[in-house]
Amino acid sequence: MTINHTIENSYLPRPARISEVIEENSRIKTFVLSFADQELNRSFSYRPGQFMMVSIPHCGEAPISFSSTPSRPGTIQLSVRRAGRLTDAMHQLGTGAMVGLRGPFGRPFPLDRIIGRDLLFVAGGIGLAPLRSVINYCLDQDNSYGRLTILYGSRTPDDIAFKRDLDLWRQHPRATCLLTVDQTRPGWDGPVGVVTGLLDAIEVTPANTVALVCGPPLMIRFVLARLSRIGLKEKNIITTLERQMKCGLGICGHCHMDGQLVCVDGPVYTMAQLLELDVMELHP
Ligand SMILES: Cc1cc2nc3c(=O)[nH]c(=O)nc-3n(C[C@H](O)[C@H](O)[C@H](O)COP(=O)(O)OP(=O)(O)OC[C@H]3O[C@@H](n4cnc5c(N)ncnc54)[C@H](O)[C@@H]3O)c2cc1C
Ligand code: FES
Repeated sequence: MTINHTIENSYLPRPARISEVIEENSRIKTFVLSFADQELNRSFSYRPGQFMMVSIPHCGEAPISFSSTPSRPGTIQLSVRRAGRLTDAMHQLGTGAMVGLRGPFGRPFPLDRIIGRDLLFVAGGIGLAPLRSVINYCLDQDNSYGRLTILYGSRTPDDIAFKRDLDLWRQHPRATCLLTVDQTRPGWDGPVGVVTGLLDAIEVTPANTVALVCGPPLMIRFVLARLSRIGLKEKNIITTLERQMKCGLGICGHCHMDGQLVCVDGPVYTMAQLLELDVMELHP
Protein backbone atom coordinates (compact mmCIF):
# COMPACT_ATOMS: atom_id res chain seq x y z
CA MET A 1 0.00 0.00 0.00
CA THR A 2 1.41 3.43 -0.93
CA ILE A 3 0.70 5.96 1.78
CA ASN A 4 3.37 8.59 2.25
CA HIS A 5 3.56 9.09 5.99
CA THR A 6 5.04 12.54 5.74
CA ILE A 7 2.53 13.90 8.25
CA GLU A 8 3.37 12.10 11.51
CA ASN A 9 -0.13 11.98 13.07
CA SER A 10 -2.56 10.99 10.30
CA TYR A 11 -5.57 12.10 12.36
CA LEU A 12 -4.30 15.63 12.95
CA PRO A 13 -5.17 18.28 10.34
CA ARG A 14 -2.15 20.48 9.64
CA PRO A 15 -2.75 24.16 8.89
CA ALA A 16 -2.17 25.25 5.28
CA ARG A 17 -2.44 28.72 3.75
CA ILE A 18 -4.13 29.54 0.44
CA SER A 19 -1.71 31.53 -1.72
CA GLU A 20 -3.91 31.74 -4.83
CA VAL A 21 -7.45 30.90 -5.90
CA ILE A 22 -8.02 30.14 -9.59
CA GLU A 23 -11.63 30.26 -10.78
CA GLU A 24 -11.95 27.34 -13.24
CA ASN A 25 -15.69 27.86 -13.87
CA SER A 26 -18.72 29.02 -11.86
CA ARG A 27 -18.64 25.86 -9.66
CA ILE A 28 -14.96 24.82 -9.60
CA LYS A 29 -12.03 26.65 -8.00
CA THR A 30 -8.40 25.56 -7.75
CA PHE A 31 -6.74 26.37 -4.41
CA VAL A 32 -2.95 26.75 -4.36
CA LEU A 33 -1.76 25.79 -0.87
CA SER A 34 1.33 25.48 1.30
CA PHE A 35 1.69 24.22 4.86
CA ALA A 36 2.28 26.80 7.58
CA ASP A 37 5.07 24.49 8.83
CA GLN A 38 7.98 25.15 6.44
CA GLU A 39 9.73 21.89 7.39
CA LEU A 40 6.58 19.96 6.41
CA ASN A 41 6.44 21.91 3.14
CA ARG A 42 9.93 20.69 2.32
CA SER A 43 9.41 17.03 3.32
CA PHE A 44 5.85 16.57 2.00
CA SER A 45 5.46 14.20 -0.96
CA TYR A 46 2.55 12.68 -2.82
CA ARG A 47 1.72 10.81 -6.06
CA PRO A 48 -0.91 11.60 -8.72
CA GLY A 49 -4.18 9.83 -7.84
CA GLN A 50 -3.81 10.30 -4.09
CA PHE A 51 -6.05 12.64 -2.10
CA MET A 52 -6.02 14.89 0.97
CA MET A 53 -8.69 15.26 3.64
CA VAL A 54 -9.46 19.01 3.67
CA SER A 55 -11.15 20.62 6.66
CA ILE A 56 -12.52 23.92 7.86
CA PRO A 57 -13.34 24.15 11.59
CA HIS A 58 -17.13 23.89 12.25
CA CYS A 59 -17.81 23.04 8.56
CA GLY A 60 -16.44 19.51 8.20
CA GLU A 61 -13.92 17.59 6.19
CA ALA A 62 -13.90 16.15 2.64
CA PRO A 63 -11.55 14.09 0.45
CA ILE A 64 -10.09 16.08 -2.46
CA SER A 65 -7.61 14.70 -5.03
CA PHE A 66 -4.37 16.43 -5.90
CA SER A 67 -4.80 18.30 -9.16
CA SER A 68 -1.16 19.43 -9.10
CA THR A 69 1.83 17.26 -9.95
CA PRO A 70 4.69 16.41 -7.56
CA SER A 71 7.04 17.15 -10.48
CA ARG A 72 6.31 20.86 -9.81
CA PRO A 73 7.07 21.07 -6.07
CA GLY A 74 6.70 24.05 -3.73
CA THR A 75 2.91 24.19 -3.41
CA ILE A 76 0.02 21.76 -3.84
CA GLN A 77 -3.20 22.38 -5.74
CA LEU A 78 -6.65 21.06 -4.90
CA SER A 79 -9.51 21.74 -7.33
CA VAL A 80 -12.86 21.84 -5.58
CA ARG A 81 -16.36 21.65 -7.06
CA ARG A 82 -19.05 23.29 -4.94
CA ALA A 83 -21.25 20.37 -3.75
CA GLY A 84 -22.31 21.03 -0.14
CA ARG A 85 -21.33 22.26 3.31
CA LEU A 86 -17.53 21.99 3.25
CA THR A 87 -16.98 22.72 -0.42
CA ASP A 88 -19.37 25.74 -0.28
CA ALA A 89 -17.36 27.09 2.67
CA MET A 90 -14.09 26.56 0.78
CA HIS A 91 -15.42 28.57 -2.14
CA GLN A 92 -15.88 31.54 0.25
CA LEU A 93 -12.15 31.52 1.12
CA GLY A 94 -9.64 33.85 -0.51
CA THR A 95 -5.90 34.31 -0.58
CA GLY A 96 -4.35 34.16 2.91
CA ALA A 97 -7.11 32.01 4.45
CA MET A 98 -6.19 28.76 6.25
CA VAL A 99 -7.57 25.22 5.89
CA GLY A 100 -6.66 21.93 7.61
CA LEU A 101 -5.01 19.15 5.60
CA ARG A 102 -4.51 15.44 6.43
CA GLY A 103 -2.82 13.00 4.10
CA PRO A 104 -1.78 12.07 1.49
CA PHE A 105 -4.08 9.03 1.38
CA GLY A 106 -5.02 6.33 -1.12
CA ARG A 107 -3.31 4.36 -3.86
CA PRO A 108 -1.86 6.47 -6.69
CA PHE A 109 -1.98 5.81 -10.44
CA PRO A 110 0.54 3.07 -11.36
CA LEU A 111 2.89 5.50 -13.10
CA ASP A 112 5.81 3.07 -13.28
CA ARG A 113 3.74 0.31 -14.91
CA ILE A 114 2.54 2.63 -17.71
CA ILE A 115 5.97 3.98 -18.73
CA GLY A 116 6.47 3.80 -22.50
CA ARG A 117 2.74 3.44 -23.25
CA ASP A 118 0.42 5.76 -25.16
CA LEU A 119 -1.97 7.27 -22.62
CA LEU A 120 -5.64 7.96 -23.28
CA PHE A 121 -7.31 10.21 -20.70
CA VAL A 122 -11.11 10.37 -20.60
CA ALA A 123 -12.59 12.87 -18.15
CA GLY A 124 -15.95 14.40 -17.30
CA GLY A 125 -16.41 17.62 -15.28
CA ILE A 126 -14.34 17.77 -12.07
CA GLY A 127 -13.00 14.31 -13.03
CA LEU A 128 -10.27 16.14 -14.94
CA ALA A 129 -8.77 17.26 -11.57
CA PRO A 130 -6.94 14.01 -10.63
CA LEU A 131 -6.12 13.36 -14.30
CA ARG A 132 -4.60 16.87 -14.61
CA SER A 133 -2.12 15.74 -11.94
CA VAL A 134 -1.03 12.68 -13.92
CA ILE A 135 -1.15 14.45 -17.34
CA ASN A 136 1.19 17.21 -16.17
CA TYR A 137 3.39 14.63 -14.40
CA CYS A 138 3.75 12.57 -17.62
CA LEU A 139 4.40 15.67 -19.76
CA ASP A 140 7.16 16.70 -17.32
CA GLN A 141 8.97 13.32 -17.76
CA ASP A 142 10.42 14.14 -21.21
CA ASN A 143 9.93 11.03 -23.34
CA SER A 144 9.17 8.40 -20.66
CA TYR A 145 5.56 8.15 -21.80
CA GLY A 146 4.14 7.86 -25.34
CA ARG A 147 1.45 10.05 -26.88
CA LEU A 148 -1.10 11.63 -24.56
CA THR A 149 -4.67 11.89 -25.87
CA ILE A 150 -7.00 13.87 -23.63
CA LEU A 151 -10.78 13.66 -24.14
CA TYR A 152 -12.84 15.97 -21.93
CA GLY A 153 -16.61 16.31 -21.65
CA SER A 154 -18.50 19.17 -19.97
CA ARG A 155 -22.22 19.88 -19.62
CA THR A 156 -22.09 23.21 -21.50
CA PRO A 157 -19.27 25.39 -22.90
CA ASP A 158 -19.52 27.53 -19.72
CA ASP A 159 -18.81 24.44 -17.60
CA ILE A 160 -15.43 23.71 -19.24
CA ALA A 161 -12.86 23.87 -16.43
CA PHE A 162 -9.04 24.01 -16.51
CA LYS A 163 -9.08 26.12 -19.70
CA ARG A 164 -5.47 27.27 -19.21
CA ASP A 165 -4.29 23.64 -19.01
CA LEU A 166 -6.40 22.58 -21.98
CA ASP A 167 -4.84 25.36 -24.09
CA LEU A 168 -1.32 24.31 -23.06
CA TRP A 169 -2.00 20.61 -23.72
CA ARG A 170 -3.45 21.45 -27.16
CA GLN A 171 -0.17 23.13 -28.12
CA HIS A 172 2.07 20.36 -26.68
CA PRO A 173 3.82 18.28 -29.38
CA ARG A 174 3.16 15.01 -27.49
CA ALA A 175 -0.50 15.70 -26.66
CA THR A 176 -3.86 15.77 -28.43
CA CYS A 177 -6.77 17.37 -26.63
CA LEU A 178 -10.43 17.18 -27.70
CA LEU A 179 -13.45 18.71 -25.95
CA THR A 180 -17.16 18.03 -26.20
CA VAL A 181 -20.24 19.48 -24.49
CA ASP A 182 -23.59 17.82 -23.71
CA GLN A 183 -25.54 20.96 -24.64
CA THR A 184 -24.29 23.61 -27.03
CA ARG A 185 -24.49 27.42 -26.64
CA PRO A 186 -24.13 30.23 -29.22
CA GLY A 187 -20.45 30.58 -30.08
CA TRP A 188 -19.54 26.89 -29.54
CA ASP A 189 -18.41 25.25 -32.77
CA GLY A 190 -16.90 22.09 -31.28
CA PRO A 191 -18.41 18.61 -30.89
CA VAL A 192 -21.73 18.18 -29.06
CA GLY A 193 -22.55 14.92 -27.26
CA VAL A 194 -21.22 12.67 -24.53
CA VAL A 195 -17.48 12.14 -24.15
CA THR A 196 -17.59 8.56 -25.51
CA GLY A 197 -18.42 10.15 -28.92
CA LEU A 198 -14.89 11.60 -29.04
CA LEU A 199 -13.48 8.07 -29.16
CA ASP A 200 -14.76 7.90 -32.77
CA ALA A 201 -12.55 10.88 -33.67
CA ILE A 202 -9.24 9.36 -32.57
CA GLU A 203 -7.00 6.44 -33.50
CA VAL A 204 -6.23 4.02 -30.65
CA THR A 205 -3.66 1.21 -30.77
CA PRO A 206 -5.18 -1.03 -28.08
CA ALA A 207 -2.04 -3.14 -27.55
CA ASN A 208 0.06 -0.10 -26.61
CA THR A 209 -2.53 2.09 -24.88
CA VAL A 210 -3.42 2.57 -21.23
CA ALA A 211 -6.63 4.51 -20.53
CA LEU A 212 -7.19 6.62 -17.41
CA VAL A 213 -10.81 7.54 -16.76
CA CYS A 214 -12.41 9.84 -14.19
CA GLY A 215 -15.87 11.36 -14.00
CA PRO A 216 -19.38 10.72 -12.72
CA PRO A 217 -20.39 7.03 -12.19
CA LEU A 218 -22.62 6.94 -15.31
CA MET A 219 -19.81 8.26 -17.49
CA ILE A 220 -17.35 5.75 -16.03
CA ARG A 221 -19.76 2.90 -16.81
CA PHE A 222 -20.16 3.83 -20.49
CA VAL A 223 -16.50 4.73 -21.06
CA LEU A 224 -15.18 1.51 -19.47
CA ALA A 225 -17.55 -0.63 -21.55
CA ARG A 226 -16.59 1.23 -24.74
CA LEU A 227 -12.82 0.99 -24.11
CA SER A 228 -13.19 -2.71 -23.50
CA ARG A 229 -15.06 -3.09 -26.83
CA ILE A 230 -12.30 -1.13 -28.63
CA GLY A 231 -9.93 -3.86 -27.45
CA LEU A 232 -8.06 -2.40 -24.47
CA LYS A 233 -7.16 -5.06 -21.91
CA GLU A 234 -9.05 -4.68 -18.61
CA LYS A 235 -5.78 -4.30 -16.70
CA ASN A 236 -4.97 -1.32 -18.96
CA ILE A 237 -8.19 0.57 -18.18
CA ILE A 238 -7.71 2.54 -14.95
CA THR A 239 -10.28 4.64 -13.13
CA THR A 240 -10.79 6.41 -9.81
CA LEU A 241 -13.91 5.90 -7.68
CA GLU A 242 -15.69 8.20 -5.24
CA ARG A 243 -17.25 6.97 -2.03
CA GLN A 244 -18.32 8.81 1.12
CA MET A 245 -15.27 9.09 3.39
CA LYS A 246 -14.65 10.04 7.01
CA CYS A 247 -11.24 8.88 8.24
CA GLY A 248 -9.45 8.40 4.91
CA LEU A 249 -7.17 5.77 6.40
CA GLY A 250 -9.08 2.51 6.68
CA ILE A 251 -10.53 2.82 10.19
CA CYS A 252 -14.17 3.98 10.04
CA GLY A 253 -15.59 1.82 7.24
CA HIS A 254 -17.57 4.69 5.62
CA CYS A 255 -16.02 4.05 2.21
CA HIS A 256 -16.78 0.30 2.23
CA MET A 257 -17.41 -1.20 -1.24
CA ASP A 258 -17.92 -4.96 -1.59
CA GLY A 259 -15.15 -5.93 0.85
CA GLN A 260 -12.86 -3.06 -0.15
CA LEU A 261 -12.14 0.19 1.69
CA VAL A 262 -11.86 2.73 -1.13
CA CYS A 263 -9.66 5.08 0.95
CA VAL A 264 -6.83 2.53 1.24
CA ASP A 265 -7.53 -0.10 -1.46
CA GLY A 266 -8.44 2.68 -3.96
CA PRO A 267 -9.48 5.22 -5.10
CA VAL A 268 -7.51 4.09 -8.19
CA TYR A 269 -8.65 0.72 -9.63
CA THR A 270 -8.13 -1.14 -12.90
CA MET A 271 -11.23 -2.41 -14.68
CA ALA A 272 -9.88 -5.94 -14.09
CA GLN A 273 -10.04 -5.30 -10.33
CA LEU A 274 -13.54 -3.78 -10.55
CA LEU A 275 -14.89 -6.78 -12.48
CA GLU A 276 -14.20 -8.90 -9.40
CA LEU A 277 -16.32 -6.55 -7.28
CA ASP A 278 -20.01 -5.65 -7.20
CA VAL A 279 -19.72 -1.91 -7.97
CA MET A 280 -22.41 0.38 -9.35
CA GLU A 281 -20.04 1.89 -11.92
CA LEU A 282 -20.13 -1.42 -13.88
CA HIS A 283 -23.84 -2.20 -13.57
CA PRO A 284 -25.79 -2.11 -16.86
C1 LIG B 1 -11.09 9.97 -3.21
C2 LIG B 1 -11.96 11.17 -3.52
C3 LIG B 1 -11.43 12.23 -4.22
C4 LIG B 1 -12.22 13.35 -4.50
N1 LIG B 1 -11.66 14.38 -5.19
C5 LIG B 1 -12.38 15.49 -5.43
C6 LIG B 1 -11.79 16.60 -6.09
O1 LIG B 1 -10.62 16.59 -6.50
N2 LIG B 1 -12.55 17.70 -6.25
C7 LIG B 1 -13.85 17.76 -5.82
O2 LIG B 1 -14.48 18.81 -5.99
N3 LIG B 1 -14.45 16.72 -5.22
C8 LIG B 1 -13.74 15.60 -4.99
N4 LIG B 1 -14.32 14.54 -4.34
C9 LIG B 1 -15.73 14.65 -3.94
C10 LIG B 1 -15.81 15.47 -2.67
O3 LIG B 1 -15.14 14.79 -1.63
C11 LIG B 1 -17.28 15.69 -2.28
O4 LIG B 1 -17.91 16.50 -3.25
C12 LIG B 1 -17.30 16.39 -0.94
O5 LIG B 1 -17.07 15.39 0.05
C13 LIG B 1 -18.59 17.06 -0.66
O6 LIG B 1 -18.47 17.59 0.66
P1 LIG B 1 -19.40 18.75 1.19
O7 LIG B 1 -19.25 18.80 2.69
O8 LIG B 1 -19.16 20.01 0.46
O9 LIG B 1 -20.82 18.23 0.77
P2 LIG B 1 -21.91 17.50 1.68
O10 LIG B 1 -22.72 18.58 2.33
O11 LIG B 1 -21.28 16.44 2.53
O12 LIG B 1 -22.70 16.74 0.55
C14 LIG B 1 -23.31 17.38 -0.57
C15 LIG B 1 -23.89 16.28 -1.45
O13 LIG B 1 -22.85 15.54 -2.08
C16 LIG B 1 -22.98 14.16 -1.73
N5 LIG B 1 -21.61 13.65 -1.54
C17 LIG B 1 -20.74 14.01 -0.59
N6 LIG B 1 -19.58 13.33 -0.73
C18 LIG B 1 -19.74 12.55 -1.81
C19 LIG B 1 -18.91 11.60 -2.46
N7 LIG B 1 -17.67 11.31 -2.02
N8 LIG B 1 -19.40 10.98 -3.54
C20 LIG B 1 -20.64 11.22 -3.98
N9 LIG B 1 -21.47 12.10 -3.41
C21 LIG B 1 -21.03 12.75 -2.33
C22 LIG B 1 -23.77 14.12 -0.46
O14 LIG B 1 -24.44 12.88 -0.30
C23 LIG B 1 -24.73 15.27 -0.67
O15 LIG B 1 -25.81 14.89 -1.50
C24 LIG B 1 -13.57 13.40 -4.08
C25 LIG B 1 -14.12 12.32 -3.37
C26 LIG B 1 -13.33 11.21 -3.10
C27 LIG B 1 -13.92 10.06 -2.36
S1 FES C 1 -12.93 6.54 4.98
FE1 FES C 1 -12.80 5.50 6.87
S2 FES C 1 -12.38 3.46 6.26
FE2 FES C 1 -12.29 4.56 4.41
